[in-house]
Amino acid sequence: MQSLRGKKIILGISAGIAAYKTPILVRLLKQKGAQVRVVLTPDAHAFVTPLTLSVVSEEEVLSSFVAEDKDNPVWNDHVALGLWADLLLIAPATANTLSAMAQAKSNNLLIATYLSARCPIMVAPAMDLDMYAHPANQKNLDTLASYGNQILPVGEGALASGLVGKGRLLEPDQIVERVIVHFNSALPLSRKKVLITAGPTYEKIDPVRYIGNFSSGKMGYALAEEAHALGAEVYLILGPHALDLSNAPFAVEEVVSATEMETAVFKKFPTVDFAIAAAAVADFKPLAPKPHKIKKEEGIPSIELQPNPDILARMGKEKKQQFVLGFALETQDNWKEALAKKRRKKADAIVMNSLTDPGAGFASDTNKITYIGENEKPKRFSLKSKNEVAKDIWNEIMDQG
Ligand code: C5P
Repeated sequence: MQSLRGKKIILGISAGIAAYKTPILVRLLKQKGAQVRVVLTPDAHAFVTPLTLSVVSEEEVLSSFVAEDKDNPVWNDHVALGLWADLLLIAPATANTLSAMAQAKSNNLLIATYLSARCPIMVAPAMDLDMYAHPANQKNLDTLASYGNQILPVGEGALASGLVGKGRLLEPDQIVERVIVHFNSALPLSRKKVLITAGPTYEKIDPVRYIGNFSSGKMGYALAEEAHALGAEVYLILGPHALDLSNAPFAVEEVVSATEMETAVFKKFPTVDFAIAAAAVADFKPLAPKPHKIKKEEGIPSIELQPNPDILARMGKEKKQQFVLGFALETQDNWKEALAKKRRKKADAIVMNSLTDPGAGFASDTNKITYIGENEKPKRFSLKSKNEVAKDIWNEIMDQG
């Protein structure tokens, strides 16, 4: 799942029957975090009401050059509107609107906005079978494509006329997908897949007790958020945590033990481009967890341990195209120890943080790191928020990877 957080989109609606789908389109774009302003052609009012669109967009809907209040006329500034937007999406685009766009016939606010816009333009045509196929219409589409406008395909199926074939408006979710791809294609990690482990693991002693650690998962989560913001498809494999995942704009798989984490990781690992092991995986687990709660009366138990799988070391061993980054939590600033870990686990880079540095390490919102990349020279960073640290780490990876 990808977001459109902070993106400003003008949705231009022209007068086709498919305009009835546009309130859903607005809603889906908004759900992804975009701000949406709607411009309707005058005839589109017959198919969808400005009131519906203003409610779902939470913005005033524009449709004429001058705001309708006769006593207080206001010019609807299409130039400012065109400059405001990151994307002008015209859906549905009728044959008439396509023709006006191709010929700069500025007879309504939508065409004027189109002609003034400096942002990318995306067009989703919708019309009946023969209208769509007509050479005059196809020529207009070619002309618009030659201006750099992105022309979306039409859907195939039942048309309003009763005919069946090409000409349907793409479904709103398909249009949103195209919009997301459009924004992502400009980003440095677009089309890249990123796998991140985060949080602690819990290793069962009995049904109520476990061996765990104080990792919060915050550093891994911040790395996942940053990778997402850079356009990557992100999979976060997360141990037990207290994070709020309700707005996570990427896939999260929650696991408990190291073995579960390993299984989840190696389902994804072969296909990813980057793998970051930020989880504090328990090194050992009880050899034979008890099926019942160990009673005090049974005396002080001795718990025999066995090693857990080393997920990072296995990534290092099995990597092909993947860039693998590990973390080294040291109890003192010992970058040589971290470098030895990088080599031992065959990681491409290692990030060291020291538990003894104030503000660095597990549960805090800040961290202080040393990055050791390909050249194996330690690069020290100052104490920063984990979000800022995530940016630094991704900058280093992209310089190296
Ligand atoms: O060996 P150590 O635990 O100090 O190494 C830390 C790095 O190795 C971290 O990146 C951690 O996520 C990873 N690790 C792992 N599986 C383990 C132990 C550590 O992936 N069982």
